[in-house]
Amino acid sequence: MADSRFFTVAKEAALEAGRILREHLDTDFKVFKKGIVNLVTEVDLKAEKAILERIRRNFPDHNILSEEHGTSEGEVDYRWVIDPLDGTTNYSHRYPVFCVSIALEHAGQTILGIVYNPMSEEMFTAERGQGAFLNGKRVHVSAADSLIESLLCTGFSYDRDHVKSNLELFNKACMTAQAVRRDGSAALDLCYVACGRFDGFWELTLHPWDVAAGKLIIEEAGGCVTNIKGEPCTHYDPAIIASNGRIHAALTELVS
Ligand code: IPD
Ligand code: CA
Ligand code: CA
Repeated sequence: MADSRFFTVAKEAALEAGRILREHLDTDFKVFKKGIVNLVTEVDLKAEKAILERIRRNFPDHNILSEEHGTSEGEVDYRWVIDPLDGTTNYSHRYPVFCVSIALEHAGQTILGIVYNPMSEEMFTAERGQGAFLNGKRVHVSAADSLIESLLCTGFSYDRDHVKSNLELFNKACMTAQAVRRDGSAALDLCYVACGRFDGFWELTLHPWDVAAGKLIIEEAGGCVTNIKGEPCTHYDPAIIASNGRIHAALTELVS
């Protein structure tokens, strides 16, 4: 089992970053453009600083991969994979669907994942082999076993060329599933698959910090995450399918 200090520090970091996001939501924060529609706010950076300082203080030798900061030098056996604010577009419009996502890899395998929504105060957690939890209560994926019974979710790239190809899949899914959502926070979308709110999710252009924590949380909740062809993947694969397992083959056929 992982050192329990890893989990304690990750949880404290998620709570602190979440508090920063919540407290700044109704302020006049600055929004910068990384691309035409790819935003970053000064609150992303504040939350990230708080997480990085806490992790560095506690584990000075660990490597860190964080969305805005990039990769740090350090012992590669342990690597933290961090999205300080997943759902920045939502955040910058004060649409309260966003989260903090923190995962820890050991020797290339994710050993813990935490996704925290500071507005609903929902914290999804998992440690490898220990199950998945929402605010300390065990969660499981849904029992839906056909697409027509399934609520699916997806997300769209900031790159408009990729949007086009996902729109085709979105169309197909709308005509095949019970319904399809687009919530704007991939890490939360994955956790909603883990706890059975969504039955399946796919996206074509994700980053490791979007996926690392949520993937482990889904797997520990009994679900499955693969690449877009339905093959085993890591959180470094940009195109993924996540589901309760029962609809995985059907969802893979639909979107691959
Ligand atoms: C984005 C969100 C969005 C997804 C994008 C991500 P960000 O992350 O997770 O739902 O569709 O692909 O980049 O930029 O808000 O951290
Ligand atoms: Ca993100
Ligand atoms: Ca982000």
